[in-house]
Amino acid sequence: MFELGSLKLESNLFLSPLAGYTNLPMRLVIREVGGVGLCTTDLVNARSLLERNAKAFKLIESNAQDKPLAVQLFGGVPEEMRDAAQYLESIGVDSIDINMGCPVKKVVKVGGGSAMMTQLDKTASLVKGMVDAVKIPISAKMRLGWDDRNITAPELARTLEGVGVGAIFVHGRTREQGFSGVVKLEGISKVVAAVESIPVIGNGDITTPGAAKHMLDETGCAGVSIGRGAFYNPWIFQHTKHFLATGELLSEPSFEERVRVLTRHLDLMVEVFGENRGCVMFRKVAPWYAKRFGPANLFSKRVVRLQTRSEFDEILGEYCGWREQFCDEKGELLPRFQLEPMVSSFMQEPQVAQREAIPVPAGPVEVW
Ligand SMILES: Cc1cc2nc3c(=O)[nH]c(=O)nc-3n(C[C@H](O)[C@H](O)[C@H](O)COP(=O)(O)O)c2cc1C
Repeated sequence: MFELGSLKLESNLFLSPLAGYTNLPMRLVIREVGGVGLCTTDLVNARSLLERNAKAFKLIESNAQDKPLAVQLFGGVPEEMRDAAQYLESIGVDSIDINMGCPVKKVVKVGGGSAMMTQLDKTASLVKGMVDAVKIPISAKMRLGWDDRNITAPELARTLEGVGVGAIFVHGRTREQGFSGVVKLEGISKVVAAVESIPVIGNGDITTPGAAKHMLDETGCAGVSIGRGAFYNPWIFQHTKHFLATGELLSEPSFEERVRVLTRHLDLMVEVFGENRGCVMFRKVAPWYAKRFGPANLFSKRVVRLQTRSEFDEILGEYCGWREQFCDEKGELLPRFQLEPMVSSFMQEPQVAQREAIPVPAGPVEVW
């Protein structure tokens, strides 16, 4: 049991916000597989919510199974952030996360995202306005700082604790690093040391249960948040929870299990977004799962043009037949086609870490 302010969570494992991905279908898939304590939406513009913008409303679409849920807000206008928080509380959202890490122009321009890391007093007063206006917990998500010479996260975290935030999420890289280089565990430790009693949740490059434990042990953080690791592997929360409780590493999911969950993900996409849009959005989801299939060219090439739900069954059928040539009679991949286990950047030599970095989808998110 993990406490985030007044909220009791089943584990100290969190799904990081991933704009364009952490929609209702992805969150439901991860919850069904199990082990996650709290899922967060993509970042949402506070003003767009207040204006009842349809796109913003789609981002916060939820249902009874999608609990507990945090919505991540961005914005630089205190009244808007406060009113959006009150609105979210009124519709049953369990907690609110404030984006303080995003350096994308449209976010920083309105005084949100990483702009907040540079204006301590203004940020503290904005956050206090939100904390005072609602009963649900408010958390903040940040990077270590702008660059190595400006490591602001410890001071920001301490200041925010002073105005009542319930938790701090910290991605162990600077804004300058983007997604390159190694996640700096000592940077996360400094944030842990800076706060008095609120939980600090470490984040960055966790792709295995062992890496989650390593980050917890090395930094003293109270929990970990996983983003891209959940793309490949929605089982990471369940397996990490089990590993932290027992020390036992569960074996990797079978190909059949991966296909079952992938198919469920598509069905939920179609249910939530309609067949056409759901299939189009699924084009960028499926290749992540396929990275752990073994040889998968045939599948990835076709699935990125997916148009209908029934076409997916065809693609899968054809792929499963093609994949047999790489398997033994029991259907297991022959040793030479088996994949190396994943290793997180902070558990490798730096040169290897750079070479084997987790891919980042193209687009402005490269600088998250
Ligand atoms: C595609 C993508 C979208 C992201 N969107 C958000 C976002 O909406 N809000 C946010 O605070 N961070 C966002 N991030 C950053 C992640 O939440 C996380 O901090 C980062 O990816 C490091 O964790 P990971 O290595 O486990 O992915 C995004 C990252 C990626 C790759």
